[in-house]
Amino acid sequence: MNEFKEKSFRDTCRDLNAGSTVLLRVDFNLSRDSTGCWLLNDRLYRVIPVIKQLLAMQFGVILVSHLGRPRPGVWESSLSLSTLCEPLERLLGKSVTFLSDWPKQKTYLAAGSVALAENTRFLVGETDNNMRLAQHMVDGVDCVMMEAFACSHRRHASTFGVLNAAKTWCLGPEHEKEIQGMDRFLQTSSPRVAFIGGKKISTKLPLLTKLLETVDVICFGGGIASTLLHVKGYQTGTSWVEYSCREQVAEFFHLADRCSVKLVLPSDVQVSADNTDFRDPRVVAIDEILPHENIVDIGQASISSFVDHAESASSIYWNGPMGIYEYPSGIRGSADLARAISNAQAYSLVGGGDTLSVLDKLGIHAFSHVSTGGGAFLHYLANGTTYVLDARTRLKETV
Ligand code: 3PG
Repeated sequence: MNEFKEKSFRDTCRDLNAGSTVLLRVDFNLSRDSTGCWLLNDRLYRVIPVIKQLLAMQFGVILVSHLGRPRPGVWESSLSLSTLCEPLERLLGKSVTFLSDWPKQKTYLAAGSVALAENTRFLVGETDNNMRLAQHMVDGVDCVMMEAFACSHRRHASTFGVLNAAKTWCLGPEHEKEIQGMDRFLQTSSPRVAFIGGKKISTKLPLLTKLLETVDVICFGGGIASTLLHVKGYQTGTSWVEYSCREQVAEFFHLADRCSVKLVLPSDVQVSADNTDFRDPRVVAIDEILPHENIVDIGQASISSFVDHAESASSIYWNGPMGIYEYPSGIRGSADLARAISNAQAYSLVGGGDTLSVLDKLGIHAFSHVSTGGGAFLHYLANGTTYVLDARTRLKETV
């Protein structure tokens, strides 16, 4: 292992010579619309000034990211990052070289030039944190800058291995802001209220369980609420329910009770008998859902109760849409909640890929901190650290 020197982003930049090569780990794990157009969001927009700053200092910058979850060693055109060069060129105002065979393909990067490497998850060894691959990634690189907070909870070669292999690395300025935003939330006093939505509870359950140590109230919407309502014995019709999680959810209810955390489930919901476009919705109490109906959003009474909780909180955090926000009948709950949170006196921390998309759609951005992380955001709140920050602590001890 190389000797590690921890420095701030500013000091790191100051100490690098013009012409140095910087590996900037970014998170361009973005979606595309049905026509293949990139749905750009803050994950990309926020690093544009950072890239411009590095280029202005005459560094050569290699942008490195993953996209989706391909099978290692199998290239898929739909998960290639090549077409992202065009929007990047537009936003940076300069040409971006695509490295289709990185890190095998070593290119000479002239001072002030920028390249984008192909999706790291096509590489065998990336998700296993293979150190030989990580070493290969940093060959010829003078400094690694870890700007991808959104995947700092992944112990992969390009997120964690490279930090162990690099001579010098630092957090990017946006990554530092993410940590500060989250630490401020953890320093706030009670009542802390969480709003959790989105589709799947299976991936969030371990983190939700940890969260019981951090918050006083959790209000649930989205597909997650359907699974919780199902476990409580309600008829949820054709709604998305994760039946395989029933036992863990029942255990989660017991734990919340033991931790004296109040769980708030919707008391009414918006349902539709149209399972394709969710048209002609109607609002019903949760014990009035018919077998052929699908929950599309939370109802008015639930919205009012969630808004009351937002208004009386000292700190709020929100992860995941309250309904199927892609359709007109499923956005109201998220919209009213977004407005209530942005008007509340509380410190408000909002995050997650889908939450960012809802906020973009609504044009509401007035929160104390908006995180680009989904899983990383929950991981940090639950554990107070990420693999990246662990790497920093451990390496500091070895110097
Ligand atoms: C995210 O979208 O939350 C991050 O990019 C991490 O992606 P992953 O869950 O596929 O590791």
